[in-house]
Amino acid sequence: MWKDWIRPYVRPLPQWSVVAVAPPQQVVTATLHWDGHSADVTADHTVASLVPLVIATSLDAGQHPVLEYRDSASGKLLGFLRLVQATSIVIEKSTLTLYHVAAGEHRCLGWPLRPWNGWLQNRLMRKSRAPQHFAPEPTAVQQLMIAYLCPRPVVLVSVDAPGHQNIFPMDLIGPLQRSGLFSLALRNTNISVPVMREVRQVALSNMPAPMKAAIYKLAEHHKHPLQDWSALPFPVRPSREFGIPAAAAALRIQELTIVHSQEVGSHMLFLGRIVSDEQLEEGTQLHHTAGFHQAYRRRQRAPFGEA
Ligand SMILES: Cc1cc2nc3c(=O)[nH]c(=O)nc-3n(C[C@H](O)[C@H](O)[C@H](O)COP(=O)(O)O)c2cc1C
Repeated sequence: MWKDWIRPYVRPLPQWSVVAVAPPQQVVTATLHWDGHSADVTADHTVASLVPLVIATSLDAGQHPVLEYRDSASGKLLGFLRLVQATSIVIEKSTLTLYHVAAGEHRCLGWPLRPWNGWLQNRLMRKSRAPQHFAPEPTAVQQLMIAYLCPRPVVLVSVDAPGHQNIFPMDLIGPLQRSGLFSLALRNTNISVPVMREVRQVALSNMPAPMKAAIYKLAEHHKHPLQDWSALPFPVRPSREFGIPAAAAALRIQELTIVHSQEVGSHMLFLGRIVSDEQLEEGTQLHHTAGFHQAYRRRQRAPFGEA
């Protein structure tokens, strides 16, 4: 159909693609390169803040490393980010390094579609940007999409304290493998931030892809606490050690003790240690990746399952 051919030239690709991936994702490998060294950081880097865009890792990769994303099967370069060291955080015996993103490019689309799609996406972002509303610059969103070349799993975070209970979706999360820490980057405006800093305990429900609609509905709880656990559209079960209500249908439930929290730009970066890990079900987990990544996979005739 001529419409299928013409569409990419008049309409931008969606920024994000919501996909079903069996965890842990191994489709894309992330590698840090610096001063003649390189290290696999597929399970050792995370987004710490969106404004400015900050990446955290438990490696010290020097002042100006490059973070590369490659298709694990073919080795094809999908994109890269140029990083600049900003600061470090010392927690117990671990040190995390925080990097600003200075530049980035992806290779999921060929020329001339790549610059043209970027231009269309940026134009749409500028048009729909409410002036007083929090929104990163289009260039930073393009760089964030590159960071999402490693599909990011979605979890529901549960908080349960006297007088405050909540459950909301997060994907700015991740293990920081070498340090044994696990990070959550939560917007400073999230209603549960002060409670999480105080009680220092959360449960993470790794959610099956078919529950996408229920998961997205819970995004409202970034602003409003949950009134009653029984009001949720799905059953809950107590987490193993802390007894925090978590989704009964979760593939996996992890409990996290928060050992450190600090503001990083627009987000509160929580760092914790996993105290329990219940593997409950096999199945695909809800993930987010960049729209141009899914377009690339489609061209390879290996698209991710749409959630
Ligand atoms: C699947 C999903 C994952 C999300 N992950 C995060 C996250 O990791 N950190 C965060 O601060 N907000 C996260 N959010 C919340 C949104 O970014 C946003 O703050 C929330 O929906 C409120 O929207 P608004 O303040 O833009 O109106 C997530 C939302 C959804 C639906």
